[in-house]
Amino acid sequence: MKIIYKRSDIKDKVKALKANGLTIGFVPTMGALHQGHLSLIKKAKLQNDIVICSIFVNPIQFNNQQDLEKYPRDYESDLKKLENLDCDLVFMPDVEEMYPEPPTQKYDFGFLDKVMEGKFRPGHFNGVATVVHKFFDIIEPDKAYFGEKDFQQLTIIKRLVKDYNIPVEIVPCPIVRESDGLAMSSRNLRLTKEQRIQAPYIYQTLLKAKENYKKFSVIELKNWIKEEINKNSFMKLEYVEIVDMQTLHSVNNYNDIKNLIICIVVFLGEIRLIDNIKLFY
Ligand code: PAJ
Repeated sequence: MKIIYKRSDIKDKVKALKANGLTIGFVPTMGALHQGHLSLIKKAKLQNDIVICSIFVNPIQFNNQQDLEKYPRDYESDLKKLENLDCDLVFMPDVEEMYPEPPTQKYDFGFLDKVMEGKFRPGHFNGVATVVHKFFDIIEPDKAYFGEKDFQQLTIIKRLVKDYNIPVEIVPCPIVRESDGLAMSSRNLRLTKEQRIQAPYIYQTLLKAKENYKKFSVIELKNWIKEEINKNSFMKLEYVEIVDMQTLHSVNNYNDIKNLIICIVVFLGEIRLIDNIKLFY
């Protein structure tokens, strides 16, 4: 496994690989790798000749300075995990390398980046789109892998690729969970012991909502989820939305749309956890 730090070096490497007719799968990450990230690498390994993983904690997508400072970093253990999976190349630029000049790009994805994460984390998706667009420019992958855990991010990346005619196939990957149902996340490492015990309650609530949704109207179901989460004294709901999987528009009744997803964000103390569940009508 080769580790590359410079844009020019990875560009040269990719050029040589492509000249040999090899296909490239790309998995962008911010490190602190867990089985969720590794599932993307495994899928990429199955579908491409060469797999490139990037590890870059992208400062411009954090709207909260404390969150950026406390973001877990463990490059040594990340590299071991990638090596074990036979990842071919790791791109680990520093901030100066990615942003020699302060980035000024402004993206507008219409409705998609105005709701949910877009509303509660101003500037977040502009930061994500900026860095992913740059990675696509540098690496020119055939396929790129994104987790459904960040469902809105995945939707926005698909739109980025369409809007800018980027010749890459976006491959969605299912959420990987701990055995107790908690969606894997680098932020889980920051939960206290007691918060970690409580955290699976988020997914349990989503599962119950999915099992029983036909008994409620959309509004009632949202209110029920709100009440359930806020009943737990360790948790504070930031938002819950029931939206069309394509447009991210909220729906008023289940007849409107066939493919719905419940998206939720819950705070445990200062740790912000995101999750979702698909409702197939
Ligand atoms: P990060 O949070 O490190 O996640 C990297 C990729 O792993 C994302 O596509 C994310 O959706 C996926 N992922 C994380 N946890 C997962 C889980 N439990 N199951 C399945 N997939 C999971 O998302 C980012 O980084 C950044 O925004 C990035 C795209 C790298 C741009 O900076």
